[in-house]
Amino acid sequence: MKIHDKYPRTVYAAKPERYDNMQYRRCGKSGILLPMISLGLWHNFGHTDDLEAGRQILRTAFDNGITHFDLANNYGPPFGSAEENFGRLFKEDFRPYRDELIISTKAGWDMWPGPYGNLGSRKYLIASLDQSLKRMGLEYVDIFYSHRPDPHTPLEETMGALHHVVQQGKALYVGISQYNAKDTARAAKILKDLGTPLFIHQPRYSMFDRWVEDGLLDELEKQGTGSIPFSPLEQGLLTDKYLKGFPKDSRAVKDGRYFKKDQITEGKLEKVRKLNEIAIARDQSLAQMAVAWLLKDERVTSVLVGVSKAEQLKDNIGALNNLKFSKKELEKIEKILK
Ligand SMILES: NC(=O)c1ccc[n+]([C@@H]2O[C@H](COP(=O)([O-])OP(=O)(O)OC[C@H]3O[C@@H](n4cnc5c(N)ncnc54)[C@H](OP(=O)(O)O)[C@@H]3O)[C@@H](O)[C@H]2O)c1
Repeated sequence: MKIHDKYPRTVYAAKPERYDNMQYRRCGKSGILLPMISLGLWHNFGHTDDLEAGRQILRTAFDNGITHFDLANNYGPPFGSAEENFGRLFKEDFRPYRDELIISTKAGWDMWPGPYGNLGSRKYLIASLDQSLKRMGLEYVDIFYSHRPDPHTPLEETMGALHHVVQQGKALYVGISQYNAKDTARAAKILKDLGTPLFIHQPRYSMFDRWVEDGLLDELEKQGTGSIPFSPLEQGLLTDKYLKGFPKDSRAVKDGRYFKKDQITEGKLEKVRKLNEIAIARDQSLAQMAVAWLLKDERVTSVLVGVSKAEQLKDNIGALNNLKFSKKELEKIEKILK
C-alpha cells in the first residue's frame, strides 16, 4: 500500500460529540441500532489504495457517529487486503472503541483456489471467518454473512454454519446477502429453529435497481429482519460526478473491475441529469437525495455507502438533514425512473 504524507498521521482520539447528530434505526426486531448511514470497504481499502486516505475515511465516519463498518473476505485488491488494512487501522486507531463498533464480514464469493474456497459450504464459511478474524486482528465480528445464495449446497448446511459461528462466539449476529424473498423466508425459518435469528439482509438496492420492492422488503418485515442496501449510489452513477464527463479519479475510470465506463450510457445519464435537477430543487446533492430516497422506507435500517474520499462521506451524511419527500417529488422521480 502506498503511504503518502498528504495526511500526516496523528494519534486518534474520537470526537466527544460523535453521537450528537447521527440518527439510528433498530435492525429488525433485534436489540441493535444501526446508524442510518454505514460505511463499506469494498473499494478504496486494498493494497493498491492509499492507507492514509482510508484512515481519514474511517476517522470521519466514526467522528460522525457511523458505528458500522462492512467488509468481506475478498475485498481488496488483492483478496483479503481490505481486511488486513482495516485490521491495521483498527489496531492503530479504533481498538479502544471496539465496543462502540459493529464490524461485519462475509464469505460466499471466490476466495481461494479449489472447491472449498467459494459459495456456501460449512467448510468454506467456517474456515473463511477464521481467516478474516486473523486478518483483522479481531476476536469476533458483530455480523457474519453468507455473501450469496448457493444453489448447490443445502440451505440447512449454510445456515447451520452461520448458527455454528454464533455458538462459537466468533460472530454475534448473522446475515445473508442477495437472497431472494423465498430463500430468505426459508433461511429465516431454519435459523429460527436453530435458535439464531436472521438479523439482517444486505441486498443491492438503489433508485436504479429496485428488485427488493418486489417482495423482499415485505418478507424482511414479516421476519423481523433488518435491511442494509448496498451500492445505493450505483457505484457513483447516482451522483453528479459523471454529468460533465469522466473524472480521472472516478471508479469507472481508475478501477473498472465491477463498474465500467461503458455502463454509463447516455440513457442513464439523461435520467441522472433529471434526478439532479430535483435534488438541486430540494437543496441536496444528488448523492444525498439517492440516500434519502432509500431511507424514506422505514424497513431500510441503514444505507451502506462506499467513498473514495472523506468529503464524499460528509456529503452523504448530509442526506439525513432532509429525508422527507413531497408526493409531487416522488411522482416526478417515479416518472424519471420508469
Ligand atoms: N453484499 C454484496 O454482495 C455487496 C456488493 C457490493 C458492495 N457491497 C457493500 O456495499 C458497500 C457500498 O458499495 P459501493 O461502494 O458500490 O456503494 P456506492 O455508495 O453506490 O458507490 C460508492 C462510490 O460512489 C462514489 N461516491 C460516494 N459518495 C459520493 C459523493 N457524495 N459524491 C460523489 N461520488 C460519491 C465514490 O466513487 P469514486 O471512486 O468514483 O469517487 C464511491 O467509491 C461496499 O463497500 C460493500 O461494503 C456489498
